[in-house]
Amino acid sequence: MQANTTIDEVLTTIWHLLYRGAVQKKDPLHTATIGTIQEGTPQLRTVVLRKTDTTARTLYFYTDIRSRKVHQLKENSTLSWLFYHPKKNVQIRAKGKTTIHHQDDLTATLWKSLPSYGRKTYGTTHAPSTPLNTLSDDLPALWKAEEIELAATEYAYENFAVIGCEIDELEWLHLQRSGHQRAQFSFLNGDWKGSWIVP
Ligand SMILES: Cc1cc2nc3c(=O)[nH]c(=O)nc-3n(C[C@H](O)[C@H](O)[C@H](O)COP(=O)(O)O)c2cc1C
Repeated sequence: MQANTTIDEVLTTIWHLLYRGAVQKKDPLHTATIGTIQEGTPQLRTVVLRKTDTTARTLYFYTDIRSRKVHQLKENSTLSWLFYHPKKNVQIRAKGKTTIHHQDDLTATLWKSLPSYGRKTYGTTHAPSTPLNTLSDDLPALWKAEEIELAATEYAYENFAVIGCEIDELEWLHLQRSGHQRAQFSFLNGDWKGSWIVP
């Protein structure tokens, strides 16, 4: 960023990058590391950034309602996000409160748009993280067919969840040889307050 870049311009850039990450599959911000808390211990994993609603300040990912992360979010709804863009040398950290969507209008609409291969993740017989006696994908036999009827995948809808995270804290770090740059933002009283901080 140029030396005369304003803090508001950085905020706009962050949301632009997050928007692009959601819509472009090959973008480095299309996947993120998300952090939840389980009994005081941070738990991290990769997810796909499915949608960025810049107006609602909300990031979305899909998951299995039976997964550990959902149990953790029910205990503590705060979620942390970590993004890294290697070409731009930019790291973005985001934090917010989550809403778990399950068998509601949003999940119904998104489920309809998922092709059968996209539904496979939610179709395991047992909950994610259940111990197995042998190496297995734990999918019913129907998934082995060459062509899968969409109707046959409907059973997995009950496992499909969409997590929305309303972001209220953002942090931007830009690494560059001439000197690193860093800024933080908090959403307070209906507005973003930004400040420069030591990188
Ligand atoms: C590239 C990649 C993308 C992933 N995307 C998702 C995702 O969008 N949603 C999800 O629940 N898990 C996704 N996973 C799997 C998670 O990282 C994790 O292993 C799984 O969700 C179980 O996490 P949990 O036990 O903490 O709930 C992805 C993994 C990788 C490697």
